Amino acid sequence: MGRTVVQLTLIGLQLSMRSVKPVVFSQDDWDIYSFHINSTVTSRYATTVITSRVVNRMDESKEIEFHVRIPKNAFISKFRMFIDGQVYDGVVKAKEQAQQQYTEAVSRGESAGLVSSVGRTLEEFKTSVTVAAHKKVTFELTYEELMKRTHGKYELQIHARPMQPVKDFKVDVYIHEEAGINFIDVKGGLSTKALANAITKTHAWVYFYPTVDQQTMCDNCGEQGMNGDLVIVYDVNRNNELGDIKKSAGYFVHHFAPSNLPRISKNVVLVIDKSGSMQGRKIEQTRIALIHILNDLAEDDHFGLITFDGNIFPWKLELVQANSKNVESAKNFARNIQAGGNTDINQALLQGANMLNTHDREGSASILILLTDGQPTTGVTNLEKIQSNVRQAVAGKFPLYCLGFGFDVDFEFLEKMSLQNNGVARRIYVDSDADLQLKGFYEEVATPLLTDVTMIYVGGTNLTQTNFSHYYNGSEIVVAGEITDNNIETFTPQVVAISVMFDLRYLSAVIFVSDDLIQRVWAYLTVKQLLDKELQLSGPEKEQVKKEALRLSLKYSFVTPLTSMVVTKPLGETIHVLHKPKECEAPQSMKPPGRQSISRHGGTSTRHRSDNVGEQHKQRQCKTSSIHHDLDSVANRGFKRIFIHFKTNQHVEIDTKGVTVRDGQTETHHTGQDLVTAGSVTVIMRNNEIDIAAGDVRLVILVHEKNSIKFLWPVLRQHPSANNTDGLLGDGNASDYSIASPLMMNCWLTSADSALQRPLADFVVPQL
Ligand SMILES: *[C@@H]1O[C@H](CO)[C@@H](O)[C@H](O)[C@H]1NC(C)=O
Ligand SMILES: *[C@@H]1O[C@H](CO)[C@@H](O)[C@H](O)[C@H]1NC(C)=O
Ligand SMILES: *[C@@H]1O[C@H](CO)[C@@H](O)[C@H](O)[C@H]1NC(C)=O
Repeated sequence: MGRTVVQLTLIGLQLSMRSVKPVVFSQDDWDIYSFHINSTVTSRYATTVITSRVVNRMDESKEIEFHVRIPKNAFISKFRMFIDGQVYDGVVKAKEQAQQQYTEAVSRGESAGLVSSVGRTLEEFKTSVTVAAHKKVTFELTYEELMKRTHGKYELQIHARPMQPVKDFKVDVYIHEEAGINFIDVKGGLSTKALANAITKTHAWVYFYPTVDQQTMCDNCGEQGMNGDLVIVYDVNRNNELGDIKKSAGYFVHHFAPSNLPRISKNVVLVIDKSGSMQGRKIEQTRIALIHILNDLAEDDHFGLITFDGNIFPWKLELVQANSKNVESAKNFARNIQAGGNTDINQALLQGANMLNTHDREGSASILILLTDGQPTTGVTNLEKIQSNVRQAVAGKFPLYCLGFGFDVDFEFLEKMSLQNNGVARRIYVDSDADLQLKGFYEEVATPLLTDVTMIYVGGTNLTQTNFSHYYNGSEIVVAGEITDNNIETFTPQVVAISVMFDLRYLSAVIFVSDDLIQRVWAYLTVKQLLDKELQLSGPEKEQVKKEALRLSLKYSFVTPLTSMVVTKPLGETIHVLHKPKECEAPQSMKPPGRQSISRHGGTSTRHRSDNVGEQHKQRQCKTSSIHHDLDSVANRGFKRIFIHFKTNQHVEIDTKGVTVRDGQTETHHTGQDLVTAGSVTVIMRNNEIDIAAGDVRLVILVHEKNSIKFLWPVLRQHPSANNTDGLLGDGNASDYSIASPLMMNCWLTSADSALQRPLADFVVPQL
């Protein structure tokens, strides 16, 4: 038998290990006394505190887990645990520093944890602590976010999943907006009929107090209680078209969102990837979205449509007016797009930019939109070269928006390219609503009201971004800054912009408010924008920007991609280090409840989400570890060689003689007892085991010897918080050497095809 490489899933492995014990759900060992979510929004800045009080009902100490989901855009700013009269506060540290503590904890053999994962709009926060018999613990997590206005509204998303029905369960949302609230609505999976009478909406306060019965009876509920979202949707009054400016303690924030202006006609060029990987549902949904978009064009808009694979297929060589004849003909073209071929992003974007450049743009707003699901594979494929070509072609004249379809795209590349050209990148999730996601994005930019917007603040300093190429109806421009010497006399805000036929010049009045939040809004926006800027730069400039972003993250105690929160736990227990992931890291699709993972306080039984494995497979590109084994060495002896791939450029190869670590171009070989670090991978080699920590995954490879033949056995000590690891279970015979008396397991490996066509959970067996 030739050497066959098999991918083995971490999850699968864990399921098979764990499933040795039957999964029993018991309510007796722990109890949530109370679970409160309290969110206060002041001037569009939301501060949310989640408090959970849990008691260990057992006569022995027990590990209690706190596991919640928070919006991706938010920064965690505080975490504390109260145990037995003691407070344990999380401390925000520079990432390198936290990483060091983490590595040290791992080298002491402790199970330090990293927590991070990304879904469409939420990411996960998870920590646990050992609580003595009959003692209580209170977890308190605070996160902050600036509400972003899209489609004429703000949406505050609250995820409720206490993991068991809770007697004292409360969600309170208070909205304080000086200008008054125009409307307020409650949506989301929890806003259903069964829970309707648990939700009360007053003018500026929404509260949700479901009874224990309601928590088990609603659509998204079960034995484990609620699992779903509450989305508070609202908009503020805008009596003053100049927007409102609030100031406090030397800082100001300006919200600018005029809506009574006439629209500006636009020139839009859509550049659509039709390469082979778009085949099937993606291209179908793209066709549907394109037809919607074409239908929505106004008669005085001009548009262009380019599809590409290894070649470029423009529908027309120039922009044409969106009259009904042209729109019909373009819709026909769109209906007939067929997928196949390579991906020449460079040529496609240059042609799109050229079409806009040769069109008369006077008095209109030009927009270039790229939709792709992969990386450049032909033509110019060097990412930096593409970026510099595109930047040169666009030359700051119009924004470029990049839509990355699925997880085979290099999202960071798209993000950088968009930011370099005054646009943004957006991920389109491969799902049944992908066409709506595409359409939704288009609608955000469908109605330009102003171009060349410059926000001027005489007497202001340390300003966040002040120049915006376009302002779209339904969105909002937010600028924050410091008022020089806190001198309001000399502080003069001004907006200069181009509207349809005239130049606008606004002067705005300043409202005084008294809360410290304004400074935090400024810090939040500044850090977000510095992180975007850092992405675009290189060399010493990048370091400078990074340093400043880090300084502010530390000063305001924000967990950002540059910092981590270190949680020291009670005596003898490990620290936990919490990272904020980047968009590209650890993606995880958030599926409708009912298909979610069930992870219990105490963590002895874990059933995993049963998401579409095919999609998880796609997501691997972005991050994630996978293990490869030499199949022919399996038999019931374990493995001869194990490969672990982490991210795209870190690889660890373990055989019975030693460990080879490859980090990018660097390759090192290690034998004997050693501690090796490479990027985010830490390898500790001991006498007869090898510990590997990579991201939030911790794996132990046991080295066994039987009949003087050495072999390896992988054991997952800490499963990844993002359950996006993929791979296969098998059906060969193998012994589980991770437990004292090895058990024979006969459903351990299986063929790739059958595994990838069924949800992972299907492979869970209650008993072996
Ligand atoms: C929620 O937070 C607000 C502001 O921090 C506070 O005034 C209020 O008492 C809190 N409500 C609850 C129910 O904890
Ligand atoms: C902008 O949006 C508002 C509603 O938010 C709407 O009343 C107005 O007509 C829109 N303006 C244009 C030009 O479409
Ligand atoms: C903002 O725009 C103004 C006017 O268009 C220009 O003078 C200024 O240099 C721009 N500032 C930045 C930071 O790009």
